[in-house]
Amino acid sequence: MEPLTTERLTPADVERAAELLRSGGTVALPTETVYGLGADAASDEAVAKIFSAKGRPPGHPLIVHVSSTVAVEDWAELSDPRAGLLAETFWPGPLTLILPRTDRVSDLVVGGRENVGIRVPAHPVALALLAAFAEIGSGGVAAPSANRFGHVSPTTAAHVLADLDGRIDAVIDGGSARVGVESTILEIIGTDVALLRPGGISVAQIEAVLGEAVVDARRTDSRAAGMLESHYAPRAIVQLVESVDRSELKAGVGVIGPVEVEHPNVWFLADDAEAYARGLYAALRAADQAGMARVLIVRPSRGELLDAVLDRLAKASAQR
Ligand code: TXA
Ligand code: MG
Repeated sequence: MEPLTTERLTPADVERAAELLRSGGTVALPTETVYGLGADAASDEAVAKIFSAKGRPPGHPLIVHVSSTVAVEDWAELSDPRAGLLAETFWPGPLTLILPRTDRVSDLVVGGRENVGIRVPAHPVALALLAAFAEIGSGGVAAPSANRFGHVSPTTAAHVLADLDGRIDAVIDGGSARVGVESTILEIIGTDVALLRPGGISVAQIEAVLGEAVVDARRTDSRAAGMLESHYAPRAIVQLVESVDRSELKAGVGVIGPVEVEHPNVWFLADDAEAYARGLYAALRAADQAGMARVLIVRPSRGELLDAVLDRLAKASAQR
């Protein structure tokens, strides 16, 4: 692709960012989960730029982001009462619902499917951008995580630039992502509520609100790119370990997790899944930057987001 000049924007520049979206450009934006790479969800031409910037194979569907539950109804059918209840409880927030789509959604966003993934993000800068874009354009922003395909998701603007500088029109710096892992994805089509990806809202929280069990569809459904093995992966070889053996701590070997050992390349993360989630992707990227050939990771043992963290660790350590 032709190199672009990537504008560095601040939260004061949301009007400029909305204008770039209106004219069919790509803008990386902060959300509470990870940074997204956004484009007008109503435009095939704009959405195509997301795929080429990321090197994402076509057919992998994208999540549409809007500023409010009312705006969701332009893009998806919220008629199932369970969808309405989850929307009311968790939006704005780190929950994506897969719902029947409307005609407004670009075909490229859904890769030919009849259903669309949609969410209202809980980040003031994302919400301000979505509201500004609704004034002058479609108001829907298709946005996958703003990383090169298969790489670790970005939780800061610097991470976005490390992957996509010169490949996108702009990035808005909104600080570090508060949650640090992607949204939970639920499909509500037909009778079951199915979990496609664990994320920023736990299944326990969802079941408490619905009063019914969520069906785990992770293994049987390969539609979500995030479900491919070997995703969210750094360059370094990742090994999950129960504890760190001192004899392994050589040069070029990094350690991530709730471990306190004397070693120059330890990225400490607390034994609490929320705090761990917040720091994990930055630690994986830092280990690559420090030139680690191998990274030993010790899992967290508790916390509301344990399922989401263990899922990402399994993927980062999968054979490739
Ligand atoms: O937290 C998040 O969800 C972040 C922020 C930017 O919102 N976005 C994100 O997008 O993680 P992405 O594209 O990296 O992952 C979205 C996942 C993909 O695995 C995709 O296959 C799945 O959602 N997905 C999207 N639309 C779908 C659909 N219509 N049917 C099934 N899966 C869908
Ligand atoms: Mg992604």
